[in-house]
Amino acid sequence: MNDASVILQARGLRKRYGAQEVVRSMDLSLRRGEVLGLLGPNGAGKSTTVSMIAGLIDADGGDCLIEGQPMRGDADPRKGLLGLVPQELALHETLSAASNLRAFGALYGLAGQRLTQRVDAALDIAGLRDRAGDIVAEFSGGMKRRLHIACALLHDPAIVILDEPTVGVDPQSRNAIFEALLALRDAGKALLYTTHYMEEAERLCDRLLIVDHGQIVASGRTRELLDAAVLATTVCLDLDRPIKAGLAEALGQLPGVQPLAGGERPQQLRLELASLAVLPTVLQRLAGLEVRLQGLHTERPSLEQLFLSLTGRQLRD
Ligand SMILES: Nc1ncnc2c1ncn2[C@@H]1O[C@H](COP(=O)(O)OP(=O)(O)O)[C@@H](O)[C@H]1O
Ligand SMILES: [Mg+2]
Repeated sequence: MNDASVILQARGLRKRYGAQEVVRSMDLSLRRGEVLGLLGPNGAGKSTTVSMIAGLIDADGGDCLIEGQPMRGDADPRKGLLGLVPQELALHETLSAASNLRAFGALYGLAGQRLTQRVDAALDIAGLRDRAGDIVAEFSGGMKRRLHIACALLHDPAIVILDEPTVGVDPQSRNAIFEALLALRDAGKALLYTTHYMEEAERLCDRLLIVDHGQIVASGRTRELLDAAVLATTVCLDLDRPIKAGLAEALGQLPGVQPLAGGERPQQLRLELASLAVLPTVLQRLAGLEVRLQGLHTERPSLEQLFLSLTGRQLRD
């Protein structure tokens, strides 16, 4: 890709452990101002891929380019453009949030006023300014995760790689993390984000690489991938009375209509339609049966369905 906004590229990354090819041939390119998602089940090879990109483990093949130039090992000064948030927490529990950040900042070679400034900025990003002096052992899981993320941002990297940063996080902290990450993106940072959560990928990522068994099985803009997955539309119909035995089956006789389980109320009927064009036939049939409709909504196809349609398999959790 010859595109000036591309800041990071990986070409043909490979990794094998014993007989297992963990990463087969991974290509990716990441642009400034976007969140690229690496979405796949546990064991798909996401952590191995980002660890190779961040230089934590050696690749068996392939290379990484930053700003179009291959990385030259640990001494490469452009390594400072990268910030990695690893999957495992690495905090000093007995130190305060600020002391943790100062320790990480020192690792990146920050000192003096610059270090103080960056620690304050990181505390703001993590939403922990008022807890700066408190020891980490007293923090909730979500606060620890936010601090863990902040540790990777001290040197103000242009590329932020986050490996499943919301595992074990409460919904409130998760929202805070998402908002912080989207603000970083909007400030022009490039984010590479691994997850096995469909809804995270959908909410956060501009583009997705769907990975399984160390390979990309699909890629594209999140929105377009989702639209392409509209193989079928699920509609929920709210009827004026509890559903009688045989109604779903009767509708299931119509071409392109498949009854589904899982209505939220006894009056709710869920149907999978081959396309929305089938809906008028369904409504006509209901009218013929003198069942009145009180409301209806469609369910958006989930990335879960997309994954299933691409790989024939359910996402493992
Ligand atoms: N150091 C290692 N030694 C042996 N096997 C490993 C090692 N690291 C990862 N694996 C294996 O590689 C596969 C991919 O792991 P990983 O990259 O952690 O996947 P993900 O992050 O997508 O869950 C898994 O089957 C895992 O057991
Ligand atoms: Mg992982």
